[in-house]
Amino acid sequence: MPSQPTIIAPSLLAGNHAALAESVALVERHDLPWVHIDVMDGHFVPNLSFGPRTLHDLRETSKLYFDTHLMLSEPHRYVDIFADAGAQGITIHIEPDFPCLETLRHIRGLGLVPGIALNPETSAERVRPLLGEVGLVLAMTVHPGFGGQHFIRSVIRKIQTLREWRDAENFHYRIEVDGGITAETGLDCLWAGADTLVTGTSFFKAADKPAFIGQLLAHRLPSSVLDAG
Ligand code: DX5
Ligand code: ZN
Repeated sequence: MPSQPTIIAPSLLAGNHAALAESVALVERHDLPWVHIDVMDGHFVPNLSFGPRTLHDLRETSKLYFDTHLMLSEPHRYVDIFADAGAQGITIHIEPDFPCLETLRHIRGLGLVPGIALNPETSAERVRPLLGEVGLVLAMTVHPGFGGQHFIRSVIRKIQTLREWRDAENFHYRIEVDGGITAETGLDCLWAGADTLVTGTSFFKAADKPAFIGQLLAHRLPSSVLDAG
């Protein structure tokens, strides 16, 4: 299938936690349609971040698409709560032991976009049986839990594989990358076949945000990528 338009999804984790609504408004002011919201449980990952109340209150201030990344050991217990709070996309990890397929179908049944996430060391084959069930595959390009880490370059091969499978089998999932995405590594991911870039530190710290966004959105992909499938 043809390329999907590139989406940049700034991660609120790198925003101002004492003024999250302002961080969301900043994303809106730059005409970006998505904001990425990382939810952590201190168990699946060694950190804590936002809860459903955070989404609920931000929902009152914004119409942005809430791309909600659940880094939870038991995500199935929280899907309804985050749906009610205002998430439009809910992405869960493949690694924990829980009824994954059932949970993805439940997310779709709620009218939301189900996503499946893979840690850097998790192979693409683990999610292959689920690819017809999801609207997004998130390839972690750092170990989840913290912003500001370095991009793990070996994940590029997995992005290529996910793109090859999508093109060959006419799947419809977006391919999202998350962690250490800069103007440079973001471009590498786009060339490898990703279409959705989570940018935490690099967006919120960029002195010239329009230039940063422009570098990622105005890139020219080779025709083999644009026309694949
Ligand atoms: C890490 C989170 C990321 C994080 C990315 O567990 O999933 O979304 O915010 O931050 P940067 O872009 O700073 O690596
Ligand atoms: Zn994330």
